[in-house]
Amino acid sequence: MFFKVMVLSLLLRRVESSQQEDLSFTYNGFREANISLDGLAQITHNGLLMLTNGTKLQKSHTFYPHPLHFKNLSTGNVFSFSTTFVFAMVSEYPTIGGPGIAFVITPSMKFPGAEAGHYMGLFNATNLGNSSNHVIAVELDSLLNLDFKDIDDNHVGIDINELTSIKSSPTSFFSDQDHQHHNLTLISGQPMQLWVEYNGPQKQLNVTIAPFNVPKPFIPLLSLNLDLARIIIDPMFVGFSSATANVQVNQYVLGWSFRMNGEAGELDLSRLPKLPRRGPKKKTKIVTIGIPVVSCAVLVVAIILVLILFIMRRKKKFAEVLEEWELNYGPHRFKYKDLYIATKGFKDNELLGVGGFGRVYRGVLPTSKQEVAVKRISHDSKQGEREFIAEIVSIGKLRHRNIVTLLGYCRRKGELLLVYDFMPNGSLNKLLYDQSDKTESVVLSWTQRFQIIKNVASALLYLHEEWEQVVIHRDVKSSNVLLDKEMNGRLGDFGLARLYDHGTDPQTTHVVGTLGYLAPEFSRIGKANPSTDVFAFGAFMLEVACGRRPIQIRASEERMVLMDWVLSCWSKGLILETVDPKLGTEYKVEEMEMVLKLGLLCSHSIPVARPPMRQVLRYLEGEVPIPELSSLGLTTNIGGQIFVPSEGSSDVSVWNINPSYMGSEMTLSSSVAESILSGGR
Ligand SMILES: *[C@@H]1O[C@H](CO)[C@@H](O)[C@H](O)[C@H]1NC(C)=O
Ligand SMILES: *[C@@H]1O[C@H](CO)[C@@H](O)[C@H](O)[C@H]1NC(C)=O
Ligand SMILES: *[C@@H]1O[C@H](CO)[C@@H](O)[C@H](O)[C@H]1NC(C)=O
Ligand SMILES: *[C@@H]1O[C@H](CO)[C@@H](O)[C@H](O)[C@H]1NC(C)=O
Repeated sequence: MFFKVMVLSLLLRRVESSQQEDLSFTYNGFREANISLDGLAQITHNGLLMLTNGTKLQKSHTFYPHPLHFKNLSTGNVFSFSTTFVFAMVSEYPTIGGPGIAFVITPSMKFPGAEAGHYMGLFNATNLGNSSNHVIAVELDSLLNLDFKDIDDNHVGIDINELTSIKSSPTSFFSDQDHQHHNLTLISGQPMQLWVEYNGPQKQLNVTIAPFNVPKPFIPLLSLNLDLARIIIDPMFVGFSSATANVQVNQYVLGWSFRMNGEAGELDLSRLPKLPRRGPKKKTKIVTIGIPVVSCAVLVVAIILVLILFIMRRKKKFAEVLEEWELNYGPHRFKYKDLYIATKGFKDNELLGVGGFGRVYRGVLPTSKQEVAVKRISHDSKQGEREFIAEIVSIGKLRHRNIVTLLGYCRRKGELLLVYDFMPNGSLNKLLYDQSDKTESVVLSWTQRFQIIKNVASALLYLHEEWEQVVIHRDVKSSNVLLDKEMNGRLGDFGLARLYDHGTDPQTTHVVGTLGYLAPEFSRIGKANPSTDVFAFGAFMLEVACGRRPIQIRASEERMVLMDWVLSCWSKGLILETVDPKLGTEYKVEEMEMVLKLGLLCSHSIPVARPPMRQVLRYLEGEVPIPELSSLGLTTNIGGQIFVPSEGSSDVSVWNINPSYMGSEMTLSSSVAESILSGGR
């Protein structure tokens, strides 16, 4: 009987122990898990074990509900066991954590008198370290507590009966891949996996941690040789203890497995519940994704705005006025942008000269690389512009080797740009008497001067007689004669006076011609015709031969008006006295005399007495001899036509003298012309 009972009890024990040896569980999520919850611990609707939520200074306990036998009752040895779980800690602040999570093996699921905060819901000040506690804990601690000799605020430790770890280490893992330590941050919000393994026979406890989806590293984070038989009593419970302090840290366990006498079953990571996308996690998302995305968007918008502004400014900068009627003149239209590029933005060092009508710039057209001169004329006139452009364009059709080709134009608001062939040797007046260039320029020889006179004559002949229309130049003078590469004279600047003829405001300075070249009858009738051009050409010839301006205010009264002076010298039989002293004796006397006399003849006060250009050219070419001047009744009547104020006279205001032209070139406004007409008689 006794034996029977003995056998029975032995059998029972064996059954019991074999049951313990087999015990294992695996929770891939806790939705259907049989589990004991206490305090803040709860299972979320998607199966997360939520150890702590936002509530502060609270405890949390979660246990496998059944007690486990860790000990071989006959030998008293502790079985081998193994557990693994995936967890995550999400703090409201990225750098401040809470007391953390502890995996615990305890004799009871109840912890009367235990405190929250850093006591982790396991102990209080009085029972801390008491060997009667029989508590084994692996802590995941994100709070630095010097009372418990914590090494840092991000460590894993093994605790026995108290919270000062027997062994601890900063959270990291040794990678099997690159054989290096990698630090982990417990409160990163990222899920991580922890393994706790005890080898019974070897009495060794290993703790290993790794990021989610990284297989268990071969080298554990903590390895402690310790016989748990002194601590473990029979039976014990396994589970998690946690607590909150003053910082909101949400702590989750996503999955958990345990096995007595063997390796814990592997968790199916793909089946684990997802962490919620809210709270501090959202905040970190805002920081890590939101702010960069938003600032990128702001940057992109800013760049687009800047681009739009740039394009708009550019558009405004290069804006042109183009009306429908102008479309006919297509080939003669230039793009303002091209002219802008050609002249390097109308830079001052591309400036060729400043004339009565505007500034002239040198330029190189971007596509054809053709050298051009661009004349910028500002005007406010709307009225008559169409006719004027038509005239410009028709003048653009003029082709003669002694005419500066007008290549085209461009119209902007209040501005007209005329594009000419570039003349490398500049204008004749500069070579004749520009002081500033004197050092560099050679004195034009008589041969060159005579050639230039003939060039201009043939240009005028072309304009007056050889082209389909009669073109009156209106402004023949040395500054409008340009010199090409071979020093051939070319007549430029056509019809600009017309622009001002069409001007809206008669009070503004209206240039109608240049004093000294104006035929006397032009002042009376105000109409230009070929003979007014011939008059100006006469003045021009004298200018070239004598090397001085038609009117020189600072000269003696006798010499002030060139024409009068030449005439008086001629009447004394001393016409060669007037020859440009710079020439010395380097000229052909017959040619010189002929030019001087022809100059006087062309500038005859009676229009019909002036020879037409065809005749002028014949004289110049020596085909026919020039008639005797005495028979033509030349008189010194030119000076009488023009009122010239003496220097310092208060009457100077009647002259429209551009200060920069003082003493060199004078322009006359139409209203002044009238006052001369009435006052000069
Ligand atoms: C946290 O959980 C406790 C217990 O379930 C609950 O009473 C409390 O309202 C929760 N607090 C928050 C902030 O969710
Ligand atoms: C340890 O705890 C036991 C039971 O609670 C108690 O009797 C004993 O006095 C405590 N020992 C110390 C050193 O506090
Ligand atoms: C890892 O953490 C330890 C302790 O916090 C620190 O000394 C070490 O510099 C860290 N290593 C790296 C690579 O950040
Ligand atoms: C603990 O880790 C070491 C390697 O560092 C290993 O040799 C030993 O078997 C491990 N023990 C357990 C219980 O896993």
